[in-house]
This record gives sequence, structure tokens and C-alpha cells, in this order.
Amino acid sequence: MPSIESLIISRAKELSSYVIEMRRDFHMHPELKYEEVRTSGIVEKELKSLGYETIRTAKTGVIGILRGRNKDKVVALRADMDALPIQEENDVPYKSRVPGKMHACGHDAHTAMLLGAARILAEIKDKLEGTVKLIFQPAEEGGLGAKLIVEEGHLDDVNAVFGIHVWASLPSGKIGIREGPLLASADAFRVYIKGKGGHAAMPNLSIDPIVVVADLINAYQKVISREVNPLEPAVVSVTYVRAGTTFNVIPEDAEMRGTIRTFNEEVRNYIVKRLEEITKEYARALRCEAKFELTEENIPPTVNDKKLAEFARKVLAPLGEIVVPERTMGAEDFSFYTKKAPGLFIVLGIRNEKKGIVYPHHHPKFDVDEDVLWMGTAIHSLLAYKFLKEYNE
Ligand code: NI
Repeated sequence: MPSIESLIISRAKELSSYVIEMRRDFHMHPELKYEEVRTSGIVEKELKSLGYETIRTAKTGVIGILRGRNKDKVVALRADMDALPIQEENDVPYKSRVPGKMHACGHDAHTAMLLGAARILAEIKDKLEGTVKLIFQPAEEGGLGAKLIVEEGHLDDVNAVFGIHVWASLPSGKIGIREGPLLASADAFRVYIKGKGGHAAMPNLSIDPIVVVADLINAYQKVISREVNPLEPAVVSVTYVRAGTTFNVIPEDAEMRGTIRTFNEEVRNYIVKRLEEITKEYARALRCEAKFELTEENIPPTVNDKKLAEFARKVLAPLGEIVVPERTMGAEDFSFYTKKAPGLFIVLGIRNEKKGIVYPHHHPKFDVDEDVLWMGTAIHSLLAYKFLKEYNE
């Protein structure tokens, strides 16, 4: 008799066309953050037809629950469902039918892969030694859907949470597992400098906010190069500067915006504190008033649990080649789950030069190699089944 593991893998292969069909349907009908009404409706219908209890969450999210034998052990699997405000430039039969909206990050594939796993797990329900929670999350792209789901308490009883992201920088079919930080923290800041406007020919009669901005842009980089441990990656980017209207007037005020990225919350807190101090002190030294504020909610770094990473490497070995992916300074709200419960965010290679699938995430020509999506279904199913069966914390 074949093992459950090999059964899962062969079922995932059989479900390949189902997963591709679902992915194409979601791809043709992309929905932006907190607008995933059609997508979550389809997901909920599928889950109900498979015998899952369903709960609505985070405005447009759905959670499916499947209860196995043991009541105390709970494993969560997560897929995000939202698209981006990008006009698709691919010429494919499943091209987005909504002008200006596109699944350019692969969340259509994530939703479809997890629906495939929903089928397999329902089929082996009597072999599950615990509860499976399938989280179909809205608003990953700048909407912090994950944070809402955690705040609603859906992670409170979860022993481990797994997520997969299709990954454009990895060749098709490679599975990327990395312990520790994988994605960065993200913050957005805004600086306001108030001086005193006047004639540019008589700067002595004004207080120039622009020279303060010029100094600050450079001073921020000195925090990174002189104060942060060089072995700790950190980025400060000033991305927006506004001041003045014409050549012969010193403006009254100036504004800057930017972002901070790190892999370490202590480093992040330190940088925020120092940027604020430097902004205020510099401005004061040059006779201006300054305000420094964080404008978006902090996204923590996505930190993968070491033991879960080892476990996954062992469990997923029969599926294909496992590699250690590069870290990225990009951010993911999966980090709200990994702050709440031990978690593992796995990346699945979908880059295929032969098929011309070479564009990065958020590009108008982004696409995924659909022939490996069954692997995502297998990864979810294997991890859930094996975690409930044999993982001990
Ligand atoms: Ni994404």
C-alpha cells in the first residue's frame, strides 16, 4: 500500500489542471485589497462543498476549518488573494479582463494552490491528527490583511503557520527554505521642515528649509554607514522631496518622505529613534522647526522558525530540489503571523526562461510557470499532514 505522503504527491499532480484552471480564473478577474468579493466567494463555495466550516474574516477574507482526530493540534496554511493596480502587458488567453488591475505578484496562484490542498486534505480527513485552518487572506499589498486576521484572534490556537510565495528569482520547481529572517521590516516616514520664506537674493533675511533637507538626506545615510552594525542589513531611502515653487524665492517649508528596511526589530527601532533625533537637532541648529513621523503602520520582518525550517526540508525532500533563497529587503505581512506563532514562509521557483517567464514581481509582464503550481498544493498538504502527525514542539 502506498504511503500517505506518496498519495498526496500523486493527488497533487492529478489536481494540476484544476489548480491551473482556478489560477487562470482568478487571474482574469483580479481584485484589489479589501475588494476580493468574487475571489473569496468562489473560495468559500469550494471550501463548503468540500465539507469545511467557513468563517469570514478581515472584511473580504475566508477561513476554512477541517477538524481531524486530535482537538489540540492546529496547523494553519495561508494564501493571499489580492491583485495590484497595474495594467497587464502579457498577451495570454488568461490576460486580466479588468483594465488597470492585475495579479502581478502571483497571489492568484497562491489562492489556487491552497484550494488544491483543500481538496487533498478533505480527502484524507480521517488521517489528520488535528485541525487544519486554511487562511485565505485579503489585502497583503499595503492593506495589512494579516494583521486584522491576527487581531481577530484566528492565530490564537495555531501551533504552526505555513505560507508559500511563488518566486520570480528562483528557477521553476526549486523550493526555497531559509531559517531566520527572509523578508525585511518596512516603515514609511514623513519629515516636515518649517523655515521662513523670503527673497532668494537676501538669504540672510529668511530661514532656508531647503538646506536643512539637503543636509538631512546625507545625515540619514551616516546612521546606516556609521552607527548600524555593518553585518546587519539596513536601508534608508528618501523617495520624495517637496520644496519651493520658483528660482528666486526661498520657501517657507519643505517636506520629505522615505522608507526604512531592516531584518531586525532592534535595529529598526534604533534607526527610527536616530532619524527623529537627527531631524530635530539639525533643523534646530539651522533655526528651523521640524516634525518627524511614521506614516504607515510598521510591518515587522518575516522571521522563519528554525525548527520548522528543518522539519520542512525533511518533509519536502521527495518533491524536488531545496535551496536557500536570498533574503530580500521587500516586506510581507506574513510577518504578523510569524510574530504570533512559529511560522515558515516558503518560496517556490516559477521562473522559466524557455517560456519567457522572466519578469519580476509587480511588473506588467509578470507571469508564473503554471506547470509547477501542483508543487505548491503538495507542499501545503504534506506540511499540514506531517505536522499534525509527528511534529513535537
Ligand atoms: Ni506577494
